[in-house]
Amino acid sequence: SSSFSTILTETSEDIGMISLNRPEVLNTLNIRMVEEIVQALEQFDQDPFIKVIVLKGQGRAFAAGADIDEMMNKNSIELELLNQFTVWDRITWIKKPIIGAVHGYVLGGGFELALCCDILLSSDDAEFGFPEVSLGIMPGAGGTQRLTKLIGRSNAMKLLLSGERFSAKTAKELGIVSAAVPNEIVVEEAMKLARLLAQKPSLSLRMIKESVHKAVDLPLFEGMQAERKNFYLLFSSEDQKEGMRAFKEKRAPDFKGK
Ligand code: CAA
Repeated sequence: SSSFSTILTETSEDIGMISLNRPEVLNTLNIRMVEEIVQALEQFDQDPFIKVIVLKGQGRAFAAGADIDEMMNKNSIELELLNQFTVWDRITWIKKPIIGAVHGYVLGGGFELALCCDILLSSDDAEFGFPEVSLGIMPGAGGTQRLTKLIGRSNAMKLLLSGERFSAKTAKELGIVSAAVPNEIVVEEAMKLARLLAQKPSLSLRMIKESVHKAVDLPLFEGMQAERKNFYLLFSSEDQKEGMRAFKEKRAPDFKGK
């Protein structure tokens, strides 16, 4: 939408693309920008022609964290009343797959945004980190929670307590990113993956994403129940009938997304 001032959105067939666009400040996340990112995600999520969302940064960084200028003079009560991180919760409700294509600095709030993506691809020159500790604060938009669930307590403690920056190679080894590729091709690789996912039946994508989120949030038994219900639900879809029929008839399936 043209009403955005801090991000760019575009579509490429059935892929929606969001680009953080404050390159002069390394895509520092101010309140307006986070609001716009969430609105753009919601618009693509509601758009029946969009199947997958790709998130990336313009310029030399994905995002160098929250806007320090905007935060530095706030007090606790102002922050409590402003409650600026609550908007991040809406990302949890996005049903379509979000592929993050990150490069350059992926720091602080920028790293937290990357951790909201369902799949992360990184350029091999990316630098990750949670520098908040060195500013006398700490992550506030999910960093201590999401990173710990992703890479375990000990690795998360080391990175969060030290604030040290680490390479794409380390991010790959820790399982934070699924691949680290040359900078020139990271967006194209993300698009390639997006196009692959876009060919899949979208209700399956939706139910799988929801079930994986449950695996992170719930005890195993509850997660198993939720998975099973989603499995049963897909048998009301036309795509399930089509997918299995096509298999039996040894032809390519023609999925309709319903
Ligand atoms: N907030 C505000 N401005 C920032 C910023 C930030 N997080 N990061 C970079 N900028 C600004 C710089 O001040 C600079 O502006 P000027 O040209 O007006 O000086 C511009 O962006 C370019 O940055 P640099 O000149 O510093 O570029 P560099 O290549 O020398 O260094 C960097 C890049 C290592 C990322 C360095 O900018 C840096 O350390 N930035 C701060 C990173 C940080 O601490 N992020 C965490 C923020 S707190 C947070 O995110 C809380 C949370 O959980 C939500």
